[in-house]
Amino acid sequence: MASSTLICDTEPWKNLRAHVEDIKKTHLRDLMSDTKRCQSMMVEFDGLLLDYSRQCATLETMDKLFKLAEAENLKQKIGRMYNGERINSTENRPVLHVALRAPRDSVIQSDGKNVVPDVWKVLDKIQVFSETVRSGSWVGATGKALTDVISVGIGGSFLGPLFVHTALQTDPEASKFAKGRQLRFLANVDPVDVARNITGLNPETTLVVVVSKTFTTAETMLNARTLREWISAALGPSAVAKHMVAVSTNLTLVEQFGIDPNNAFAFWDWVGGRYSVCSAVGVLPLSLQYGFSVVEKFLKGASSIDQHFYSAPFEKNIPVLLGLLSVWNVSFLGYPARAILPYSQALEKFAPHIQQVSMESNGKGVSIDGVPLPFEAGEIDFGEPGTNGQHSFYQLIHQGRVIPCDFIGVVKSQQPVYLKGEVVSNHDELMSNFFAQPDALAYGKTPEQLQNENVPQHLIPHKTFSGNRPSLSLLLPSLNAYNIGQLLAIYEHRIAVEGFVWGINSFDQWGVELGKSLASQVRKQLNSARTKGKPVEGFNYSTTTLLKRYLEVWLSIWAQSHAHRVVPAIITSNKLISFLLISSSYLFKDLIQNKQ
Ligand code: F6P
Repeated sequence: MASSTLICDTEPWKNLRAHVEDIKKTHLRDLMSDTKRCQSMMVEFDGLLLDYSRQCATLETMDKLFKLAEAENLKQKIGRMYNGERINSTENRPVLHVALRAPRDSVIQSDGKNVVPDVWKVLDKIQVFSETVRSGSWVGATGKALTDVISVGIGGSFLGPLFVHTALQTDPEASKFAKGRQLRFLANVDPVDVARNITGLNPETTLVVVVSKTFTTAETMLNARTLREWISAALGPSAVAKHMVAVSTNLTLVEQFGIDPNNAFAFWDWVGGRYSVCSAVGVLPLSLQYGFSVVEKFLKGASSIDQHFYSAPFEKNIPVLLGLLSVWNVSFLGYPARAILPYSQALEKFAPHIQQVSMESNGKGVSIDGVPLPFEAGEIDFGEPGTNGQHSFYQLIHQGRVIPCDFIGVVKSQQPVYLKGEVVSNHDELMSNFFAQPDALAYGKTPEQLQNENVPQHLIPHKTFSGNRPSLSLLLPSLNAYNIGQLLAIYEHRIAVEGFVWGINSFDQWGVELGKSLASQVRKQLNSARTKGKPVEGFNYSTTTLLKRYLEVWLSIWAQSHAHRVVPAIITSNKLISFLLISSSYLFKDLIQNKQ
């Protein structure tokens, strides 16, 4: 395909557009009565079952979607990713997160070099280090074992590890290995997040893992400096070497920060931040908490899907099918959002993680060649575990807007409960909803049905459910480390498929830059206002007003709470500049005292 040719200009895209009319004439009620269709919309792999029969799609739709994939060279694009080609062209990088979970003896090349041995070198280092810490051989500055870990990082250096940690927490095997240990995550630069993280922790028994691909992210670095201060203030500056380690691609900056390079765990430019949970970013904190053997199972689960994604024919390829159906829903049926609804509390952080993977990857307005897209790419992801979501936003999903839903269910609960005298086990109760909701969405309830139930006439419009609302169901046998790895990789690859078909670069994230640079101008302004009393300038009316209000209100709140310590003459003098100077020096003294 010529570089400027967009997917929307191809015949398969136009055919799908024309096909929308046929689909709009059908109702899922009717589609669901075609058993042959439903049978062919079930795919099994490695213990997983995907049922996409409740998509507003026929076998003809699927056929047309496969043709679309062909037009965009999906097979070749997947191959180029696995071959380590620099498919992230705007950053000139390969995209090789599959190498992070590849078996030790596999070969994955980047620039003519097999990267798998490097990956395993770091994994081996993590195994040794985590066992040393977990066994108590590695002790802190006062000789105590380090039982608690705070992982400091944001975005991809946070969300994936948090999702996996939350999912493992109640897994019987993983939780046994985590006994007596704590893992916390500090992401937000909000000092409230710092306070929450350190509350109840003792620096003597805490290990801080600073996780940042670049080691320049403002939020992470300030949080890291704050925790460095927390440790030094309690144990002296030399304690930092024993209580802080790092995960980064930038080992020079790690060393400049004061962390011993021997205690740094590397990863590589070819790992995108949001695709980095299988690198040291996730593997180190998770191994410290659960032991390396559990984390290795997680990697194996992801690797199983990697092999499936690479080799399975598209008709049986779970990530490919999911990706193509997402393109169908977003670009043809006009449903821009997707609800991720795991019927498992352990997956409560899955949707937030997928939000980043999906929206940072595919929220793009131009093709990979820089041509503006005449169609919308990307999708709006959100979700909550069932049944909590049912009591929150499902009203809109059932009777308001059409939001394609991913129902994710688990056969065997991590924590089964069966109360004597109850009709079903607690997990069966939960799963009854998992099975019921997709049909409620697909079939709806007609006015005729309501009339037959003698529903008063005036309530019939309110109680009618239009149905014909698409969903898919993914059933996992259980939710152990292996299954969690499978689930992660399915979604990672699904999102890549969407991006490949839309013809965008799913692996860069230029859209996050502008806000960062504007924040740095504000930071400079706040500093000069607070320390030199300089007036707010260089911003538009709105931002200037907000900033002034922020500074003034802060000042008056501070003055009220420090009235006894500030010379009264200064308060009444209206000399803002000198007042600012004096108050800020008090403030910084205050902050330091509070920290200590
Ligand atoms: O949000 C932007 C982003 O660059 C993400 O892509 C990345 O995961 C996150 O910031 C954190 O970056 P780093 O790991 O370099 O601190």
